[in-house]
Amino acid sequence: MKTFINILLFSNLLIGVSLFAHGGNKHTNEIKVVKQDVINEDRNKIAYEKINKNYLKNIKPIFEKKCFDCHGSISNYPWYYKVPGVKQMMDYDMKEAKKHLDMSKDFPFISHETPLKDLKSLREVGLKNTMPPLRYILGHWDSSLSQEEKQRIIKWSEDSISILKGEGNE
Ligand code: HEC
Repeated sequence: MKTFINILLFSNLLIGVSLFAHGGNKHTNEIKVVKQDVINEDRNKIAYEKINKNYLKNIKPIFEKKCFDCHGSISNYPWYYKVPGVKQMMDYDMKEAKKHLDMSKDFPFISHETPLKDLKSLREVGLKNTMPPLRYILGHWDSSLSQEEKQRIIKWSEDSISILKGEGNE
């Protein structure tokens, strides 16, 4: 009983004094708050699906070629993986890269950040050319992003950021 009262008191705090002051029925307000969360979640899901559809079509082929060695799941290791020293470096990079951003399950990526923050970091990559890391480019002559690929990443991340912001994400 005591916990129940505590929950009631807490939910009043959540619902906010203004609703309460309007004399609304506590119970219905509570349901409304929960419903709104569900609606927001659904909207985000729809937004993610839209973003992922563009991702699969326009971006994934680039990432597969240039990023998946570290951020995704590769079934075929490149030949230089066998070169002494390279294996250790790549194993380390793959572990580190995946900790930050794991692209193996498509968008939204597995990450400790929100999808919106990931999109912002990816836009940065397109704008500032920070990925793949330089030492990797040196060992792998065709791995840096072309101008066209960078433009596509920037456009996709900016379009996606607008979609998410349209759903109330900040
Ligand atoms: C050789 C391995 C390697 C490749 C290839 C690589 N990355 Fe990374 N990436 C890393 C590592 C390691 C980190 C984490 C440490 C750091 O930021 O340097 C990282 C971090 C990132 C981050 C930052 C995530 C955060 O939390 O801030 C983004 C975004 C990113 N990579 C995008 C890309 C993209 C896009 C590509 C392909 C164009 C790519 N990476 C290719 C190794 C790689």
